[in-house]
Amino acid sequence: MRSKPETARTRASRLSRRSRPPIPTLGDVERRGRAALPESVRGYVDGGAAEERTLRENVAAFGRWALVPKVLEGHDEFDLSTTILGTEVAAPFFLSPTAYQRKVHPAGERGTARAAARAGILAVFSTLSSDRLEEIAAAVPPGPRWFQLYAQPEIDATLELVGRAQRAGFSAIVLTADTPLLGSRDRQGRSGFALAASVPIGNGPNVVSPPRPFTGKGPRYRFTTPGRPTWAMLERIRESTRLPLVVKGILSPGDALRAVELGARGILVSNHGGRQLDRAPAALDALPGVVDAVAGRAEVYMDGGARRGSDLLIALALGARAVGLGRPPLWALAAAGEAGVERFLELLSAELATSLALLGRRSVQGLDRSALAPAPTASRGP
Ligand SMILES: Cc1cc2nc3c(=O)[nH]c(=O)nc-3n(C[C@H](O)[C@H](O)[C@H](O)COP(=O)(O)O)c2cc1C
Repeated sequence: MRSKPETARTRASRLSRRSRPPIPTLGDVERRGRAALPESVRGYVDGGAAEERTLRENVAAFGRWALVPKVLEGHDEFDLSTTILGTEVAAPFFLSPTAYQRKVHPAGERGTARAAARAGILAVFSTLSSDRLEEIAAAVPPGPRWFQLYAQPEIDATLELVGRAQRAGFSAIVLTADTPLLGSRDRQGRSGFALAASVPIGNGPNVVSPPRPFTGKGPRYRFTTPGRPTWAMLERIRESTRLPLVVKGILSPGDALRAVELGARGILVSNHGGRQLDRAPAALDALPGVVDAVAGRAEVYMDGGARRGSDLLIALALGARAVGLGRPPLWALAAAGEAGVERFLELLSAELATSLALLGRRSVQGLDRSALAPAPTASRGP
């Protein structure tokens, strides 16, 4: 098949991409991405809930651990690859679901999907994507790709989304359990973030955003829509699909066990990047208790606050099978679209490999808590 002739515009954009030096470091990805966003969108991406204590704690929790290297091990090959729910991936990290990616860059979810697929990295796409889930799937060859599910007001509409994701070739359903309503998004509210008509909810007019935070006068408050996830709904979803179910937003061993007993194959320890309950525990702090409780009956992942290769090693050593990143790939998308996400994945993989080698380990599999020591209190930076 002949490829389409190149227009002057796509040629100019290809040449300018080629001539621009690649983003040098992970720190630059964040700086450039944040600088590229208008104030209102930056407030939406960077902000957390209320006083943003949990948002800060997510990052600070990684500073409570030190990595203890083994020396003179003589490894000359390093292997980042692993499997996630049986699917081979190039590295033990993934792109967590984030809504409305076309607000961040016109490349949107399709750009993110292409970059992740080329890198062999798992990407999770939100119910509130700005591209339709079918368009995201069609943009890339089959690969590791999951669909994040927000409960809809009607169970039939919820199951319809599950069916669409299955037919489109997504390989797992990630039910977000921590969003019966939106947290108090103070920074987002102050920044004036609004969804323009030019950024649709790609999955269709029947797909609703999670309910807004409570507004109006007390003393009695009611949910304004019934689109709230429940344990009974989790069972309905599991029964309705052959795809494995992952539950996102769990922070306690008890909830993790209950989800596993109801058939969840994966638990994603997460506080939604500090955007829901302020003062919820840091995701990293909640991880070991969940890992111990689940005891191998399901895979356990975490997201929240991971920024560098060393962060990934700490979470893996505490028992995460893989670590999700939410804001960093959005900064990368904002900085340079699809090429930015590609560069971010390259930089993070390279840094993970470097840190692994310096830790004296050959493979990310088999990392355990013996690689860790508590960081001295005085040096606990963010
Ligand atoms: C801008 C933004 C949008 C998000 N949208 C969703 C979403 O649609 N569904 C969901 O389950 N989580 C969503 N999250 C939460 C992320 O999946 C993830 O849990 C969190 O960002 C991880 O923290 P980190 O940003 O520190 O890596 C969103 C997070 C951000 C920052």
